Amino acid sequence: MNFERTLIITGGAGFIGSHVVRLFVNKYPNYKIINLDKLTYAGNLANLKDIEDKPNYRFVKMDICDFEGVLKLMQEERVDGIIHLAAESHVDRSIKDPFTFAQTNVMGTLSLLQAAKAAWEGAFEGKRFYHISTDEVYGALEMTHPEGIEPPFTTKASSGKHHLAYGEKFFTEELKYQPHSPYSAAKASSDHFVRAFHDTFGLPTIVTNCSNNYGPYQFPEKLIPLFINNIRHRKPLPVYGKGENVRDWLYVEDHARAIDVIFHKGKIAETYNIGGFNEWKNIDIIKVLINTTDRLLGRREGEDMDLITYVTDRAGHDLRYAIDSSKLQRELGWEPSLQFEEGIEKTVRWYLDNQAWLDNVTSGDYQKYYENMYAGR
Ligand code: NAD
Ligand code: DAU
Repeated sequence: MNFERTLIITGGAGFIGSHVVRLFVNKYPNYKIINLDKLTYAGNLANLKDIEDKPNYRFVKMDICDFEGVLKLMQEERVDGIIHLAAESHVDRSIKDPFTFAQTNVMGTLSLLQAAKAAWEGAFEGKRFYHISTDEVYGALEMTHPEGIEPPFTTKASSGKHHLAYGEKFFTEELKYQPHSPYSAAKASSDHFVRAFHDTFGLPTIVTNCSNNYGPYQFPEKLIPLFINNIRHRKPLPVYGKGENVRDWLYVEDHARAIDVIFHKGKIAETYNIGGFNEWKNIDIIKVLINTTDRLLGRREGEDMDLITYVTDRAGHDLRYAIDSSKLQRELGWEPSLQFEEGIEKTVRWYLDNQAWLDNVTSGDYQKYYENMYAGR
């Protein structure tokens, strides 16, 4: 079968990557989509069961650090685009084991860049290297507020959008990088390498920095799936510090739609911030999770509030993230489609309906299963 384009999506077996792979495979039957993933603890092919038999989908178990392997694959498949999501993604793990984060996020990205440069041999017309990054590279924002007004207060973005905020400053594309965790330092470094490959070799690159994603298939070490699962099983909810930290939440399918728009219409060498103008204090989100989970399980709403357990804060815990995605809205017309209330209801319902998926990923059984399945390939 002749395909119009052939793309590699790295990290396609992970949380966001699986939504991006699903979107591209279904929306573009004339594209061949190669999901290149090492299947670490965070990669799970069960996330893609519904599309694994599609004729335009191929899975390749490979480490992005394997320069020779990636180059050979790119040459054999005549790959003309890369959407790069593979990474170590959990801040707490990066505090315990920073080496793995430098290896995967920095050296892995460098190896992909070198492979793309070698495979495309300067013929960059129609090619694209799209690197997915995070808002955490910008560091932490303060919680300032106009005099006399208690946060969250209503403010207006340059796109004209009104939204609630916990501070007067936002992450814009021009901000200087100030990463604090080993995870965000490694992501920042990878972003710099991507831009350097454009500036030095003319590689056609794009970088996007997105806020916190939530939705189905997120590994239950992250706040939202971990807490839904714990509420269901009436296990303690470990709230770091006072629960006052603010995050800006975006439904994962809205991120995948943004990636689609930017991959096709974004300008080479540009950076776009992606976010939902949806700031929440952790403790408030946790209360919403308890109420929603209780209600959907037929319990009295708020019955499980006593599971909240304040624990020692995360080292270097960033206070507030808040993305200004006005540029993306203005230039490419992207906007989030889901209200948070709707997104969180869908998300809680999905985890409650998919207990088997949660049990599987927490037991590690899926890794043994797929290790056997792909042994020797
Ligand atoms: P995830 O941890 O759920 O998935 C990561 C995937 O990458 C897994 O499938 C894993 O097997 C794969 N992988 C890891 N190391 C690899 C390697 N060496 N070679 C090949 N594959 C490898 O991550 P996620 O939350 O889906 O995040 C995806 C990307 O989006 C990351 O680059 C992350 O920095 C970025 N991001 C995440 C968020 C968020 O809220 N989760 C927000 C903004 C940006
Ligand atoms: O901002 C984008 C980033 O969002 C992504 O780049 C990262 O890959 C992703 O993991 C996420 O990072 P966070 O550290 O913000 O997400 P996490 O779900 O780990 O934590 C969200 C908030 O909840 C944070 O303030 C820490 C707090 N928290 C987290 C856990 C796991 C708790 O209070 N208790 C917990 O047990």
